[in-house]
Amino acid sequence: MRHLPSSTAKGIVLAGGSGSRLYPLTAAFSKQLQPVYDKPMIFYPLSTLMMAGIKDIMIISTPQDTPVFERLLGDGSQLGISLSYAIQNEPRGIADAFLIAKNFIAESDVCLILGDNLFYGKLDFLRAALNNNRGATVFGYQVQDPSRYGVVEIDANGNVISIQEKPTKPLSNMAIPGLYVYNNSVCEIAASLTPSPRGELEITDVHKMYMERGLLDVIPLGRGIAWLDTGTPESLHDAGTFIHAIEKRQGLKIGCLEEVALHMQFLNTEQYIQTVTALPNSSYKDYCMSLVNQ
Ligand code: DAU
Repeated sequence: MRHLPSSTAKGIVLAGGSGSRLYPLTAAFSKQLQPVYDKPMIFYPLSTLMMAGIKDIMIISTPQDTPVFERLLGDGSQLGISLSYAIQNEPRGIADAFLIAKNFIAESDVCLILGDNLFYGKLDFLRAALNNNRGATVFGYQVQDPSRYGVVEIDANGNVISIQEKPTKPLSNMAIPGLYVYNNSVCEIAASLTPSPRGELEITDVHKMYMERGLLDVIPLGRGIAWLDTGTPESLHDAGTFIHAIEKRQGLKIGCLEEVALHMQFLNTEQYIQTVTALPNSSYKDYCMSLVNQ
C-alpha cells in the first residue's frame, strides 16, 4: 500500500468575521457554514489541510459560531484527525489567529487557511511548501481584479519586490490566496504588530516582516489550480456552480471529509466504515459507502 506522509505542521482554519457582505445569509449563521453546493463551506478548506497531510487542526471563529462548528465537526476523531476550537471575540484581523493559537502552535510550523477560500486541483504545491518552507511561504494567483486582495509583485527570479493589501492601483495582477505556511517565528512576529488604520492585525504586515528578514517565498500557482473565494453573493454562487459542475461530470465529490480521511489513510477501512455507517441516510452517505469496495 502506498504511504502518504502526514505533516508535523499544525493547521488553522480561520472562520470568524462578520460576513457582512453576505447579509442577510449571514444574519443568523456564519459565512463558513453556508452551503457551497452540497457541503458547508468549511469542508473545503478543512479538506485542503487534510490533503496536505495535516492532522492537528484548530478552528477559530466567533463566540456564537464556534459551538456550531463544534457540533458539525466534533473532535475530529471520526476523521482520524484532531480538531480543537478557539474563540475570536472581535474580528481583530487575520494575524490575530497567531496570538489566539500561540499555545496550540507551540514549537511547530503552521499552515493557516481562511475558511472562505476554496482550492481545487493538484495540491502538491502545498505539500512542497510545507516541506521546503524557510520562513513564510505564500502563493500567487493571477486574477482579473487584484485590488480585492493582497497583491504581490515578483521579479523574473521569483524574488518578492512588493506586497500590498487591497491596493487601489495594484502593481501586479498576482493576488495572494488565503493559504499561508509559516515557521514558528510567526507567533513572535504577530505579537510585534500594531493594528492598521482599519484597526486590524494585517496578514500583509506579517509577510512584510518576513520579507525584511529575507525569508518570504512566493510560489506562483498555475492555471491548473482553481482558487475561488466566497465573500460575496456572486462569488459564493460561482463557487457552488463550479463544485456542482465537476461533481456531476465526474461522479466524485470535492471536499468530502470522510473520503479524504480514507485517501490519506487517517482512517483504515474498518474505521472508515464505522464513521460512514453513523452518517444519516443521504446521498452523501451513499457516496461514502460506494467508496468502500473501490
Ligand atoms: O481571500 C484572500 C484574501 O483574504 C487575501 O488576498 C488578503 O490579503 C487577505 O487580507 C484576505 O482578504 P479579505 O478581504 O478576504 O479579508 P477578510 O477581512 O474578509 O477576512 C477573510 C476571512 O477571514 C473572512 O472569511 C473572515 C475571516 N476573519 C477575518 C478577520 C479580519 C476572521 O475570522 N477574523 C478576522 O479578524
